[in-house]
Amino acid sequence: MSAPERPVRVVLVGHGWAGRTIWLPRLRAHPRYEVVAVVEPDPAARAAAPAGRLLADVTEIDPAEVDLAVVAVPNHLHAPVAERLLRRGIPVFVEKPVCLNVAEADRLAAAERDGGAVLLAGSAARYRADVAALHELAARLGPVRHVDLAWVRARGVPGSGGWFTDRSRAGGGALVDLGWHLLDAAGPSLDSAEFSQVVGSVSADFVNSGTRRAAWHTGPGPDGGASGDVEDTARGFLVTPGGVSVSLRVSWASHEARDTTRLTIDGEAGTAALTCTFGFSTNRWPGSALTRTRHGVTAPVPVPDEPIGTEYVRQLDALPARLSDPASRGRAIGQARRMIGTIERLYASALPVPLQEARRAG
Ligand SMILES: NC(=O)c1ccc[n+]([C@@H]2O[C@H](COP(=O)([O-])OP(=O)(O)OC[C@H]3O[C@@H](n4cnc5c(N)ncnc54)[C@H](O)[C@@H]3O)[C@@H](O)[C@H]2O)c1
Repeated sequence: MSAPERPVRVVLVGHGWAGRTIWLPRLRAHPRYEVVAVVEPDPAARAAAPAGRLLADVTEIDPAEVDLAVVAVPNHLHAPVAERLLRRGIPVFVEKPVCLNVAEADRLAAAERDGGAVLLAGSAARYRADVAALHELAARLGPVRHVDLAWVRARGVPGSGGWFTDRSRAGGGALVDLGWHLLDAAGPSLDSAEFSQVVGSVSADFVNSGTRRAAWHTGPGPDGGASGDVEDTARGFLVTPGGVSVSLRVSWASHEARDTTRLTIDGEAGTAALTCTFGFSTNRWPGSALTRTRHGVTAPVPVPDEPIGTEYVRQLDALPARLSDPASRGRAIGQARRMIGTIERLYASALPVPLQEARRAG
């Protein structure tokens, strides 16, 4: 009989909404993990953490006592915090967006090489059972020609007035936040993770409206009355070197009644379409609907129903093997570099929100 595997000793870095709501409860409930400490500089957020070792800074972590740091801090701190951990030889799992530009990706890749510890990442949407069923169906519909990705919320600006809507700390708006998930979720049906053409537009009709805040996201709150300077909506059109096109629409808020995620894959022999609601929105579709359309007939395809948030548990199920696999080195940061490079190109092609406002005013 083989000895039972030792749990992965984890430090959670950041006890904000995602740390508190997504990661800590699932890590504590998972038999493959042991939470050994929580790092949180904000005294109130630290005091809200369950009993255990509470630290104020990542420098207080003893590398000998941890196997993995789960990093769930505001976006602009992902790369600096992960870099410090990697350089001390501590493996990290970094929330999306892993970094805010290609230069940060390169610094993280160097820290992973120099520190000898692996960087892991990945967005949870890929681990949804309905997304897996969509890709299985699409694989039977011949070569993929086009992928249509849309995540449109009725109301869902996260923590409006806080760092999420401040470009200098968030790196962008709905595109960085939701677009990262969608592009990652589409990956298995695309012939390439690179795009030869990327063009897009952004708009901000709701981000400062005050009534469009996400009901389920409890923080961060307004920062001294600051108003947001990021987009609430981004639209893009991308083409892979092999000629597969992707249209993308992400909205934190809109005129729609319900928060809806729709992924449609056009193959040579038919179309596969998934309608559901990604994430933790309370204004959601009750389940997922998958269809196949061929020769003018649309038929439902059975799709597994699972409790909200199951994809995060599945992501945790997969992490220990990725942590110990030498082939993981360089993989996640390579994927993150391509992703942020694509997002940077889309932003570069779009007229920025402040310029749109200036043109309208005069
Ligand atoms: N995967 C998902 O579905 C998902 C969902 C929500 C948020 N997120 C990501 O999680 C991250 C955090 O989002 P949030 O909503 O929890 O934000 P938040 O502001 O609620 O929480 C961030 C926490 O990090 C703490 N912090 C700041 N600097 C720190 C440091 N140096 N070390 C440790 N902690 C530090 C803050 O005090 C705060 O408590 C973001 O990157 C966001 O994109 C991912």
